[in-house]
Amino acid sequence: MPHTRVVRGLGECGGQAEAGTVVRGLGECGGHFWAPAYEEMLRARIIATGMSVPDCVVTNELLSRCMSTSDEWITQRTGIRERRMSPDTYRMLLRLADAPDKPAFMREVRDRGLDGQIDSSLTVTDLALEASRMALKHAGIAAEDLDCIIQSSTLPDLAYPAPGCVMQGRLGLTSTPVFNLAQGCAGFVYGLALADQLIRGGMYRRVLVVGAELLSSAFDYTDEGRDMAVLFADGAGAAVLEAVETDAARPRGLISHHLHSDGSALDALYGEMWGSSTFPPVSKKKIDDGRTRPRMNGRAVFVNAVRRVREVVQECLDANGLRAADVNCYLFHQANLRIIEAAAEHFQIPAERYFNNLERYGNTAGASVPICLHEALSEARIKDGDLVMLVAFGTGFSWGATLLRW
Ligand code: ACO
Repeated sequence: MPHTRVVRGLGECGGQAEAGTVVRGLGECGGHFWAPAYEEMLRARIIATGMSVPDCVVTNELLSRCMSTSDEWITQRTGIRERRMSPDTYRMLLRLADAPDKPAFMREVRDRGLDGQIDSSLTVTDLALEASRMALKHAGIAAEDLDCIIQSSTLPDLAYPAPGCVMQGRLGLTSTPVFNLAQGCAGFVYGLALADQLIRGGMYRRVLVVGAELLSSAFDYTDEGRDMAVLFADGAGAAVLEAVETDAARPRGLISHHLHSDGSALDALYGEMWGSSTFPPVSKKKIDDGRTRPRMNGRAVFVNAVRRVREVVQECLDANGLRAADVNCYLFHQANLRIIEAAAEHFQIPAERYFNNLERYGNTAGASVPICLHEALSEARIKDGDLVMLVAFGTGFSWGATLLRW
């Protein structure tokens, strides 16, 4: 009887797991667990994807009319030419572009809302819902067929309940369990790891994983906030995962996950906005002191992103006994073209093997990897049997990589 090595853990066994190794659960084996072979093994596969971005296109040119920046500065440093933003942010930017006193206009918006209105016309749940409905439609299943939903969003529509629950209700569901993650740009990769374990463990058969972000409303689009305002944008991506029996010798579906966090450098990228860091959670003083605005040390983020992406790609390759060239398609978080190119150069990944849409969408944080996955599939950049690596890094810091065989 043939034997298959079954490793019950994530990236353990001293990073010695070979390609084709079946990774089945959390930390049980110590790296030496052997079990009788199965001709077929239970795996989680992505069976469909979906995405959603707002209709409003914000070009570098429009941003240049709001703050001291330029198309040249933004494209050279980030690779972003345009991005999608909520209709509320877009309307505000059009008005800000023409405002003679821009800081005064932004102050007025913070004090009174836009034209006295503070209700958003688009929320993060609207985007999550649209992406999820598309994924469900492509999967040919109804929301009722889902066993579980995992959603990650950085800025929720309400402080609580979290947006996964809001979306679940709007899908018409009344008892399907929801996990809400807030893992920033790494949210989708973390969600996939969790979904995979729930499926392999036999708890659920169908799981929807969503990365949805509506961040544009949080930034200051004057010179004061220009470092962050030109980077981030809105969008959502979703994937339906299903349990499948797959050939143990050449498993298809999600293969391995490699996750990390480092909470020792919070100052590099954070948003106080509302929260228990202040009393009361929101106050006029907090707004006046600029503490409701997100903060970033761009250089620190850049340096850490380059280092951690490099480390985690290597870790994922080593754990599966692969060389960089064995992976057919890399889907990197779309933060900054220079971060992606640094990784590509280090691993000598040719341009046709990594996917970019940063130019059109900017940094959609936790939505960027699932949007890339959806577009790469739509453009037939991923083919049957391809090895695909999804890689993300973001606030926390939290970062990770997932390897799958399509
Ligand atoms: N337009 C024009 N000038 C700007 C802008 C802007 N939008 N923003 C900042 N500047 C100025 C700075 O104030 C600085 O001016 P100074 O020299 O007078 O002080 C100057 O440009 C240069 O700033 P640097 O920080 O040296 O520029 P750098 O080449 O490092 O690029 C950038 C800045 C693009 C933010 C870079 O640090 C970066 O990409 N960091 C990573 C940030 C990131 O990706 N964050 C996303 C969140 S996490 C994630 O998704 C991975």
